[in-house]
Amino acid sequence: DRDSFFSSALLGWYDPDRRPMPWKAISDPYRIWLSEIILQQTRVEQGLPYFERFVTAYPEVGDLAAAEDEAVMKLWEGLGYYSRARNLLKAARMVVGSHDGVFPDTYAGLRTLPGVGPYTAAAIASFAFGRQVAVLDGNVFRILSRFYNDSTPIDTGKGRKHYQELVDGAMGTADARLFNQAIMDFGALVCTPKQAKCSHCPLTERCKALAENTVYDLPVKEKK
Ligand code: ADE
Repeated sequence: DRDSFFSSALLGWYDPDRRPMPWKAISDPYRIWLSEIILQQTRVEQGLPYFERFVTAYPEVGDLAAAEDEAVMKLWEGLGYYSRARNLLKAARMVVGSHDGVFPDTYAGLRTLPGVGPYTAAAIASFAFGRQVAVLDGNVFRILSRFYNDSTPIDTGKGRKHYQELVDGAMGTADARLFNQAIMDFGALVCTPKQAKCSHCPLTERCKALAENTVYDLPVKEKK
C-alpha cells in the first residue's frame, strides 16, 4: 500500500553519510536534546559550532545545570531567541534536581521539560530512546501533503492531528530513529519548498502532487 511504499522508498534512499551530523551516530539524550534545542530556530550549519562549544564546555547535563546563567547566555550569543537558552538552563536544572540527572525517556515525560514541545519531545524520544513516535515538523507537513496531495491546512489543531496520523501511518513499524532522520534529510535535500528535486526523487511513481501538478501549492495554510 501507499504507506509501506513511502517508508521503504524513504529508508532505501536514506544514507546517513550524505548529511553527516555529530548527533546522528549517538543516542545520548543530553546531546540529542541540546542539538534539538539549538536547531529549533537555527539552520544546521549555523547551529553546529554552537553544539560543539556547548558539549565542550558542558560535557554532561550536570555541568550545564551547575553553570552560571551569564556563562550560558554568553555561549548562546548570536543564536537569538534567548528564551531557548533560559529554558535550556531550567530544563537542565530540572533533570538534575527532579530526575537525579537522568532524562525522562518517554514522550510525555520529555514534554514536562521547559522548551520541549511536541516536535522536540518526539525527536528526543525516538533518537535517544528508540520510541516509536514520528516527528511532525515543517518537512513532514510538506512531504506528506505532497505525497498524498492533501490540502488539509497545516496551521490548525485539527490539521496537526491529521498530519500526525498520516505520519504515524507512514512510519508504521519502521525504525523510528531511521525514519525520522530520513524524513528530515529528505525534506532538506529533495522535497524542498522551492525547486524540489522531483527528477531525483525516490517517491515520484506514487507522489500524487507530482501527478496532479500541485507540488508548489502544498502544503496549504489557513491563515495568510
Ligand atoms: N533539524 C533538527 N533536528 C535535526 C536533525 N536531527 N537532523 C537534521 N536536521 C535537523
